[in-house]
Amino acid sequence: MKYKVVALALLSVIIYSCASKSSVPTTAATKTESASTVMTAELAEGKMLYENNCAKCHKLYDPKGFSAQEWKPIMDKMQKKAHLDDAQGLKIYNYVTMK
Ligand code: HEC
Repeated sequence: MKYKVVALALLSVIIYSCASKSSVPTTAATKTESASTVMTAELAEGKMLYENNCAKCHKLYDPKGFSAQEWKPIMDKMQKKAHLDDAQGLKIYNYVTMK
């Protein structure tokens, strides 16, 4: 009786390890895929700052509407208009220039 339990437990371990082995490549693929699309906490903060501070005087501009070079002088100017400090301005800059 005891042997049966052990054998059953062993069998389920073997089945489990085989099953998990076959699913490893799929998990790895999903991980690398999401790494490029998932926003870091800092970018998410930039997005939040952008949405909360940059639509007071005008509509929210599409971040893709300007290149990184174009955003630089715009952000310098708009950061002052929105009364944000340099760190906040930089976070917004990083968010809008994220492609
Ligand atoms: C106090 C009002 C005010 C706030 C706050 C403000 N803007 Fe503006 N924004 C303006 C005005 C006025 C213009 C158009 C004239 C100009 O370029 O100064 C403008 C223009 C723009 C343009 C267009 C520039 C171009 O060359 O076409 C962008 C992009 C922009 N703002 C982004 C932002 C961002 C990002 C923020 C947040 C950090 C922000 N704005 C906050 C007043 C504001």
